[in-house]
Formats: sequence, structure tokens, C-alpha cells
Amino acid sequence: MVKYVVKKGRVFWPSKAMKKIAWANSEKIYKEASESPAKFWAKAANELFWFKKWHKTYEQSRLRPWNFRWFVGGKTNACYNALDIHLPEKANQTALIWIPEPEKEPDQNYTYEELHELVCKAANMLKSIGVRRGDIVTIYLPMIPELIISMLACARIGAIHSVVFSAFSSQALKTRLLDNRSRFLITADGYYRRGKLIKLKEPAEQGARGTAVEKIIVVNRARRKIRLKNNEFWWHLLMEEQPLSCPAEELDSNSVMFLLYTSGTTGKPKGIIHELGGYMVHAYLTAKLVFDLHENDVMFCTADIGWITGHSYACYGPLFNGITSIIYEGSPDWPSWKRFFSILEKYNVTVFYTAPTLIRMMVANRLERLLARFKFEKLRILGSVGEPIDEETWLWFFRHVGKSRCPIVDTWWQTEGGGVLISSLPGIGPFIPGVAGRSFPGVNHLVLDEGGRPVSVGKEGYLVQASPFAPGMLSGVWRNSKLYREKYWSQYHKYYFSGDGAYMLKGKLFRITGRVDDVIKVAGHRLSTAEIENAINKHPLVVESAVVAKLDKIKGNVPVAFVVVNKKKKNIEQDIIGLVAKEIGPIAKPHIVYVVPDLPKTRSGKIMRRVLRALMLNETVGDVSTLVNPEVIGQIERIVKV
Ligand code: PRX
Repeated sequence: MVKYVVKKGRVFWPSKAMKKIAWANSEKIYKEASESPAKFWAKAANELFWFKKWHKTYEQSRLRPWNFRWFVGGKTNACYNALDIHLPEKANQTALIWIPEPEKEPDQNYTYEELHELVCKAANMLKSIGVRRGDIVTIYLPMIPELIISMLACARIGAIHSVVFSAFSSQALKTRLLDNRSRFLITADGYYRRGKLIKLKEPAEQGARGTAVEKIIVVNRARRKIRLKNNEFWWHLLMEEQPLSCPAEELDSNSVMFLLYTSGTTGKPKGIIHELGGYMVHAYLTAKLVFDLHENDVMFCTADIGWITGHSYACYGPLFNGITSIIYEGSPDWPSWKRFFSILEKYNVTVFYTAPTLIRMMVANRLERLLARFKFEKLRILGSVGEPIDEETWLWFFRHVGKSRCPIVDTWWQTEGGGVLISSLPGIGPFIPGVAGRSFPGVNHLVLDEGGRPVSVGKEGYLVQASPFAPGMLSGVWRNSKLYREKYWSQYHKYYFSGDGAYMLKGKLFRITGRVDDVIKVAGHRLSTAEIENAINKHPLVVESAVVAKLDKIKGNVPVAFVVVNKKKKNIEQDIIGLVAKEIGPIAKPHIVYVVPDLPKTRSGKIMRRVLRALMLNETVGDVSTLVNPEVIGQIERIVKV
């Protein structure tokens, strides 16, 4: 079997075989890209289809560096680039494979031609209910083909999609609908997860109540027999009536392609704006170079499309590159891990992209012996994303899934970035456990101290991106330009502030240490402590609360809540956990709720989370001279110890 990596000391490098096939296999690419990033990205853009070529590749305001645009004046269409361009040569090649969770349901394959036809019909369906260019369509769907079809249909007609993770609660959906004011919602009657039917129509309906939503399309995925209201339509019935062709609109490169809500430091998720031209080129090129995609590749990205990873590497990136993407409806360990690994084997997956949490679950379940029964002959590249991966987990993944043959690309990026920003490239390397790699060609990151000075090699600091900003970077926050400037640009003005801590190592390699703000990554899902606190504070007996992150062996981090109540009540902890699940979703549930008499505060009323964190971990609390209520330390200590 072909070996794609060789080991030298603790570092892995691409083998000759890998170098031979890789698109990027020498330093030249970094050199050329850094000499002229605009030229570099323009070359990639030229590999895609444009109705009209851009007249300016990149422009940026000198006084307001956060105002920058890519491919100005260009006209294109993301759906056309995902599907139509492949039709002449790849009409019969598989574009998408969907694996439903229930084993008795057959997998579904869609060729490029079939997917194109469905997307055209869906685009006509959207038009038939009144969706026009520039309208926002919120998509609240599980991992089913209709999710990808809906996104592409929006992209085809220039509607802006705003996907909401299907495991978010009705309240979380409502928050997003109230912010994006969309008049159209696409959802499903339900889906399967861990052998259970999960109803989706009901939370969708609840979420839409009191918002601007006028019409709802419902996919009959679970074949539930429910009655729809006047403004609700079955997907399959509407689709029946639609013509097979639908022209792809000629859209401005700088028009908004989609919104994706993500958690920040505030209590409310923010709608990250991605523009068409830049996002498209970034997703296309990073998919091509980071996963080294070639004809006949089969990519399995396990991220839910409700998150950015799924947008870029389960939907757009693979399709822009004309390869096959696999999506799976269910949970990886259901009905068994064997089923999950059989997907990789059966479909000859060549690129497997997943999150450290999932790998840690494999480790905890001791799947070495099960994995030894699989050869994964065609597997070439492994990828990790969403949270830092520790050395042990990296090596386990490398050995047992990658069979010590495949490089691991540890990709660092964010919802805001649209696509990978830091990673090693398969044909260049190096692959070092715990080290993400270099900035993607044409992108430049630095590690700065508080004052904006670069820290020396091997010292921790804040990770920032320098101009020219990568094409996939957000262009703003929906209806909140102030927040956009404050969150990303106020710290260093001319640099984009990522919110992550990092070390720069020799060779401009980055080791990412994780968030330095109040964002918490739970099993790779991005949540904010303020959002969880807001949910907890809705409880009538809660006076105030503070949420801190606690390290967890599998999930990376879990939220822990400290809560002050005005009246004791039995099982209030359970009430609070239930409330968070209702307000945000089960992923945000606090692992532990401590009811405490007071929270440690400074004179100005700021809650000292650092102290809570130390108490929770049974560590020394350090300097507490600024506390107004030092007596709480002992009280909380006693509660936490029980
Ligand atoms: O803290 C970093 C972490 O995930 C954050 C971004 O989360 P989100 O917007 O949900 O996007 C996740 C998928 C792109 C980052 O600020 N993160 C992402 N990838 C890595 C990572 N931390 C360490 N290593 C990574 N490879």
C-alpha cells in the first residue's frame, strides 16, 4: 500500500509518492504567493467560471483596514461553479452520497447531473413561493441531501442562505430569525439520531412564531403524517411541479452569499457575512490544496453543515473541485462504530476530515481492534479541525485510522475565515502532532503581545492576520457594523484579531492554544459563556450566573455554571440544565451547576471568572486583593469540594 508520509525524528514529511501527486509540492508556492497574494488568488479565481471578470483583484481602505473587497466588479455564481461547470465531463460522476442513519434505508447517490437537476428544480421552487435575489432563506435542516440542495438553490438565484444547526433549539432558531428577518424557512418533519426519530417541524414552527417568516417549506424526511398550515408546503409536492431548468443568476462578486451565525463574546450570536467571489475562491482553493483533491477523490467531512466546516468542506469545496462528498445523517457510534468505519471502506474514502472530539471518542472506546479489521486502502489524507488536537490523539489517529501511511492536516480557521487559514499542505509538510502548520499561501499570520508587538519565537501571544486579508474572510456582521469593528478590529486596528492564543515556532509554524475570550469550544461546537449565562438567567429564581469552561477528556471543554438564586428549590440544578437545552440546544448544557451564595466580584462589579475556574479545579486562587467579597472563596470552595 502506498505510504504518503515518512518520519524523521518526531516530525512527519510527505513521501516521494505524495510529492509526486500533490498540487503543491515545493516552497515555490509560498514564495510566489507572498510576493503577490493578489496574483496568487487571482490565478485560483481564473480556474473557476465568471460571467464577467473582475477589474480589481483586491482593494482595501487605508484608513479603515476592515473595509476590503475581493474580485471587485466580477460577476459569477457559486452554484454554477459547483455543478454546471462539471456537466460536460462529469455528468455521470457521483457528486454526493447520503447515508441515512437507519440501516434499513438505502444510501443515496447523486451524480452531478442529478444534483444539478434537483437544484434547478429547487431554485424554481424557491422562486415559486416568492424568493427573489437578495432575500434571506433560513435553512433549519438535518444532514440530508435537501440541505445541500437548498443551499445550492439559493446560491443559484442569488438568495442568501442562513443555515441554522438542526440540533439548536427553537429558541436559538428564533434568535437568528429575529436578527436576519428572513421571510422564508426550510425545515423537515424530523430526522433520525441514535435510533430515535427527532421531531423538527415543531421546533421550527415555534421558532418561526413572532418572526418575519411568511412561508415554510417542509421536507418529509421522516415520512411523518402531519397536517401543514396554509403557509406551509411539502417540499416533495412543490418540487413535482417545477421545471427542470433554471438559469444561474449573474451575481456581483461582492454580493452577500450567505450568513452563518456564530457565538462570540456577547450574549447573542452574530451573523457572519460571507461575500460570493472571495468565499468561493477561498473554499475552492483551500479544498484543492489542503486536501489535495484530484479527480475521483471521495471526501468525508464529518462536520454538520450547520457549522462552517460543513459549508466549506462537505458542500462547496468538494463540489467546486468536482469530486464526491459524503454526508452522514447520524451519530458516528450509532448503531455501531463498525457502521461508521464501513462508510470509509465501502466508498473508498480518500480524504477523511473530522474533529478531535470524535477521535477522542474513538480512543476512549478503544477501537484499535475494530479498526485493525479495516484497511482503508484508498485513504490518502486525514484532517482535523475545530479545536486543538493533543499529541496523543494525533498519533492515535495517524496510526489506527491513517494506518501510519497518511498525513494529518491540522487545519486552523474559523467561521469568520470561510476556509482554512493555517495548515500544513500534504505535499510540503511538515506534519507535527499539536502543530497546525503555516499560514495558507497568500495569507500572513502573526503572534502579538497585548501592546501589538510581535512576540519572540516560541512565546505565547495573540494570533492575528495581516493584510491583504484572505478572500474568504467575513465582510461584516449582519446589521451590526459596530460589533464587526469592535470584535475584530479594535484590538490591533490594522490586524484582524482571531480571538485565539498561539505560539509561532521556527519556520513560521503555528501551535494554536485555543480561545482567549469567552468563547468555549464544546466538542468542537462554538458557544459563548455569555449566551449560556443569558439562558440560565431566564430562570425566575436565578439572580445571576457565571459560566466557565472545564477541560474534558472527550469534549475538550464543557461548560460549568455557578449560579446565585433568590430562593432554594429542590433540583434547581436540573431545571437550569433543561433551560439551557431549551434556550440553546443540548450541546450547551452545563456539565455541573453549582448553586453558590455569591459570585466573586471586583469593586467595579466584574465577575472574576479566573477565581471560579481556580476554585473548580481545586487550585490556588492567586491574587484576590481586588475582590469586594473575598469571603465567597471559602464558601464556594466548600460547595465545589462536595
Ligand atoms: O479556537 C479556534 C478553534 O475553533 C475556533 C473557531 O470556531 P468556529 O468558528 O466554530 O470554526 C470551527 C471550524 C473552522 C477557533 O477560533 N479551532 C478551529 N480549528 C482549530 C482550532 N483550534 C485549534 N486547532 C485547530 N485546528
